[in-house]
Amino acid sequence: MDEDFSAESLSRPGALIGWKVEVFESIGSTNEEAMNRGEKGEKEGLVIVAEAQEKGRGRLGRIWESPAGVNLLMSLLLRPGVRPEEASMITLFSAVAAARAVERETDLRPRIKWPNDLEFSGRKVCGILTEMKVFADRLEYAVAGIGLNVNMDVKDLPPGVAERATSILAELGRPVSRLSLARSLFEEFEKSYLGFLKGEKGAILKDWHERARMRGEDVEVMLDGDVIEGRVRDLDEHGALLLDTERGLRRILAGDVQRARKI
Ligand code: BTN
Repeated sequence: MDEDFSAESLSRPGALIGWKVEVFESIGSTNEEAMNRGEKGEKEGLVIVAEAQEKGRGRLGRIWESPAGVNLLMSLLLRPGVRPEEASMITLFSAVAAARAVERETDLRPRIKWPNDLEFSGRKVCGILTEMKVFADRLEYAVAGIGLNVNMDVKDLPPGVAERATSILAELGRPVSRLSLARSLFEEFEKSYLGFLKGEKGAILKDWHERARMRGEDVEVMLDGDVIEGRVRDLDEHGALLLDTERGLRRILAGDVQRARKI
């Protein structure tokens, strides 16, 4: 799609999120760049966008793969000043904001998979990686890194990744404007972030659950080669997954969730 996807067209003067946007043709990782800017004292709301990443960072030390020029790869710098335990809420509301942006721009309804993937029929369309620096028991800054597969042909991903991924193009059958989607994402993110700063945790969790529909579901959680099987009871107030397992209630802080296969 031929459009002006630039710092000028993306930035939102006077707004909180996106008051300044920088677009890189290629970069190591937008999260790395945004973390460096956090360290240098840059004001919150800065957004680093890239057309391509050489070392895109994923959760659990993985690489985030994306062909150049077709997807949204961005990192938002935040300074919420909250305690580190609150950071998981940033991850949860980021997923809700990304889902809302997709819902606004298309008639698609992505599902959230704990903690913060967006997917369609088990194929991932968006991943979020939150990184942060803590100082004196407060978040000095945090970075919400969002990778949203927009106009990508899934065949352009390496084998092994392609089978588990999808894009808006693949789901919709037509390309969408990355500019419009990014601007909706900034607006939705700003609304969610302001709610978070006001302490509206209940609303964040409600919005998250509406899109995750995971309560009561039988799942397997994979972490470091271990598999934990259980039924989802809820999320706790820190965003951890509460699972009823054969050995009682388990609180899961990280891992990959998969719906259990029905026999
Ligand atoms: C995941 O593993 O699901 C999280 C993926 C997060 C990828 C995005 S792409 C933009 C930003 N910069 C990075 O290096 N990672 C995040």
